Amino acid sequence: MTSKRKLIAGNWKMNGSLAANEALVRALIADANAANCDVAVCVPAPYLAQIAALRAGSKLELGSQDVSRHEQGAYTGEFSAAMLKEFGVRYAIVGHSERRRHHHESNHVVGLKAKAALAQGITPIVCVGETLEDRDAGQTFDVVKRQMAAVIHEVGHCVSELVVAYEPVWAIGTGRTATPEQAQEVHAVIRAQLNPATPHPERVRILYGGSMNAGNAAALLAQRDIDGGLIGGASLKPPDFLQIIAAASAAAK
Ligand code: PGA
Repeated sequence: MTSKRKLIAGNWKMNGSLAANEALVRALIADANAANCDVAVCVPAPYLAQIAALRAGSKLELGSQDVSRHEQGAYTGEFSAAMLKEFGVRYAIVGHSERRRHHHESNHVVGLKAKAALAQGITPIVCVGETLEDRDAGQTFDVVKRQMAAVIHEVGHCVSELVVAYEPVWAIGTGRTATPEQAQEVHAVIRAQLNPATPHPERVRILYGGSMNAGNAAALLAQRDIDGGLIGGASLKPPDFLQIIAAASAAAK
């Protein structure tokens, strides 16, 4: 049984407003401070400064939803890891399936982004996961292993610094969650792949994401290799997100 501190990270996606963000963050801070798990919110880039100010002095960590693979220069619309660092960003989601799909990010690019984040001391939350077609074709393990291999290849000796999020594409935003057993099965495959890649595989937290909610969080978080959650829709509703944080705190032994 792994006993590392669990991580509950909200992925707000392209949602929010100054007023809504303030209400949401204020509703989270007391519980984040008291939680027996790490808590983060991954916010749209224009709101990083706002959330950095709101969270100041609390244990609520700040995350971004992406990062450029480049350090600086003529890349209109992108933002670098060094820029994120200036706002106290602790985590950067890389390779979310929505970016892989809508922005054609390849496994290689995702690896480069993870490396760029690590170079600035930002922890990448590397998202991997199969589509329904992959699953139906019996390709789940192969797809996830290829996605992981590209990142392991790029980050070299920093593998132990990663956070991984297993997010089956068919479970994201659909209300259809992987069963705890389905998730655990893939998490175990990822863990086995990490083992030979670093002397400290036990440090790597593997989150589950995909319609995790207040009702199913406890059962998912009870699985041996599930070290937290990456939460989309439910992270925008304080009562739901707080219940997930409570489930993660309770799951900590
Ligand atoms: P969901 O999203 O919780 O709304 O399914 C998870 C994610 O995309 O990270």
